[in-house]
Amino acid sequence: MPRVFSGIQPTGEPHIGNYFGAMRNYVRLGEEFGKNSIYCVVDLHAITNPASFEPRLLAQRTFEMAVANFAAGLDPSRVTFFVQSHVPEHQELAWIFTTLTPVGELERMTQYKDKSEQLESVPAGLLMYPALMAADILLYKADTVPVGEDQTQHIELTREIARKFNHAFGETFPEPKAVYNKQALRIPGVDGNGKMGKSKGPGSTIGILEPLDAIWQKLRVAPTDPARVRRTDPGNPDVCLIFDYHKLFSDLGTLQTVDAGCRTAGIGCIDCKKTLLAGMTEHLSPIHERAEALKADPDFVRDALAQGAKEARATAQPIMEEVREKVGFLKL
Ligand code: TYM
Repeated sequence: MPRVFSGIQPTGEPHIGNYFGAMRNYVRLGEEFGKNSIYCVVDLHAITNPASFEPRLLAQRTFEMAVANFAAGLDPSRVTFFVQSHVPEHQELAWIFTTLTPVGELERMTQYKDKSEQLESVPAGLLMYPALMAADILLYKADTVPVGEDQTQHIELTREIARKFNHAFGETFPEPKAVYNKQALRIPGVDGNGKMGKSKGPGSTIGILEPLDAIWQKLRVAPTDPARVRRTDPGNPDVCLIFDYHKLFSDLGTLQTVDAGCRTAGIGCIDCKKTLLAGMTEHLSPIHERAEALKADPDFVRDALAQGAKEARATAQPIMEEVREKVGFLKL
């Protein structure tokens, strides 16, 4: 049976990019593979970038990321769901992997280049980030990794690390494969400024738990086809991010109506955005309701995370034991 692993950083509110790009696949694969699908809030990754790490908010954001995933449909009694720092084996394996990973490979990672460019002083942990990510996946010998397209390079490096380890110490790890949602490889930010990203701040994101009136304020001013200057100008949905969102939230009939309406100037941008808001309301309201119920019962969330960490450790410990033995550490 395949083993699934994925992680999500508690660096801010989860947004519709995380949701459609990754979280919906967590749910789908979770329904298929049960406890063999392992998901993790990666707080150790979240502390590597001083631009987004806020110690006072980390615990709360970690908790809320768990709530958001449960509200989005992940059932902690059916899958394995936990917080990365609660399973210390992740760090142990990551250290071993840093000794197999050339610094040059780490410096080549585009996410590292983007993030380090913004910093005056670059912490070593930010450079080591992909070795920790490889450890997350391989600690469970996972072979299936649901992610957005931006993680492709990290998964490639994970495969390389697995090959290197196997070559040096004998066949141990599978070479994991990324699983994408082809309809949501790289969801654009609502500010029209490239990919939607938690670390780009609230101007870029539509949070899955964000109040609908706040979402509307962002949609209202979101850029559309720049060539459509007046209401009477025909527009091109193919270059409009509102239409990209319609593809995620609207049914086929609505999609065809707004597509034709835009091309013939039959529908204005504001009305098109209002139709989108209706689709978002229908989709997100049940998630908001479940999140409210979970927040009202924090003990349920804490117990689920404690149980998840127990289950994760039970899988990880024998694999870590095998690794220690193969690397050659003295056993007492
Ligand atoms: P993170 O927290 O940035 O994002 C979580 C997931 O959401 C996907 N994603 C997107 N997909 C489509 N469009 C977007 N605009 C968009 N923004 C984010 C991401 O690709 C990701 O799948 N390095 C990872 C966390 C991680 C991890 C792991 C993932 C740590 N260890 C092991 C998989 C396996 C990250 O920063 O995700």
